[in-house]
Amino acid sequence: MDKFQHYYSSLFSIFLLLLLLLGHVAFVSAALNLETIAFSKGFSPLFGETNIIPSSNDQSVQLHLNQYTGSGFKSSDLYNHGFFSAKIKLPSDYTAGIVVAFYTTNGDIFRKTHDELDFEFLGNIKGKAWRFQTNMYGNGSTSRGREERYYLWFDPSKEFHRYTILWTNQNIIFYIDDVPIREIVRNDAMGADFPSKPMGLYATIWDASDWATSGGKYRANYKYAPFVAEFTDLVLHGCTTDPLEEVVAASCNERDSQLVRADFANITPRQKSAMQRFRSKYMYYSYCYDTLRYPVPLPECVVDPIVRQRFKDTGRPKFDKHQHRRFKKIRGQVLGDRNYGNQEDV
Ligand SMILES: *[C@@H]1O[C@H](CO)[C@@H](O)[C@H](O)[C@H]1NC(C)=O
Repeated sequence: MDKFQHYYSSLFSIFLLLLLLLGHVAFVSAALNLETIAFSKGFSPLFGETNIIPSSNDQSVQLHLNQYTGSGFKSSDLYNHGFFSAKIKLPSDYTAGIVVAFYTTNGDIFRKTHDELDFEFLGNIKGKAWRFQTNMYGNGSTSRGREERYYLWFDPSKEFHRYTILWTNQNIIFYIDDVPIREIVRNDAMGADFPSKPMGLYATIWDASDWATSGGKYRANYKYAPFVAEFTDLVLHGCTTDPLEEVVAASCNERDSQLVRADFANITPRQKSAMQRFRSKYMYYSYCYDTLRYPVPLPECVVDPIVRQRFKDTGRPKFDKHQHRRFKKIRGQVLGDRNYGNQEDV
């Protein structure tokens, strides 16, 4: 190799390396078009501080649960609408009775009239598909739970997957990776049940042995402790606001309209069919199909005839005797800082 060839081949290697690096950055930003935030910059402890373990580069954090305590963090700011997202890896092996929650709320400030959007991962028995639920409350509407429950199509303890809660003034979308799994489109009839006050992002791990896994049939077993949930590439994108300020909306109007126009707030036909596929295959409970609970479906419900076919009046799949037998209802139970008003589990 002469000198020039060597020079060009090194140049080419550097070029390739750059391309790879750029490719990685471009991938993250194409999917989100948003920047991640360092843990200590965006978040503060909620409880169990000794069990909150940030990584040395501050891009990730582990939440541990042991026999003494669970743990949780919350965003230091509140956001008037936003895109809240993290890559999460759930604890592996035997995790019955353990709940990992990733949610937005303002319950610390508005105790009686809080808003809330939830992802809740319900512990697992090894070898079974993981289950999770999503929920929404607005202005303290705890008597009108809007939960949906689903199976995951992958093992969430094996790799990181991105979980996202998008909240605009017109819709709410729950994403897993690039798949929108639930969209709630605001309409006037919902009134204040649609979250409207600034919320923060929270993540917690705790022992919910009494109801999490098959209605308390399988309890947490601390032989497997510590249980570790890992969060990385956190995204907090929204209009930071003082929730007690009177003129909240004015300063956030511009950002609100940007958020409404963003790609991730507008589901493409292709994403819509992915969402329908997910819902018809993996959803096993929806309040929209539970006509015993809500004889008149709540105003945002769009009844999909394909999904409708799979459910009977209870909002659960037909012909599932086991789920019926284990059905258990717990009302107004306060667990940790969270009010699990009107929660049910099978
Ligand atoms: C929220 O709830 C409170 C208390 O029930 C009520 O006074 C208020 O009018 C509600 N807000 C809206 C926007 O409906």
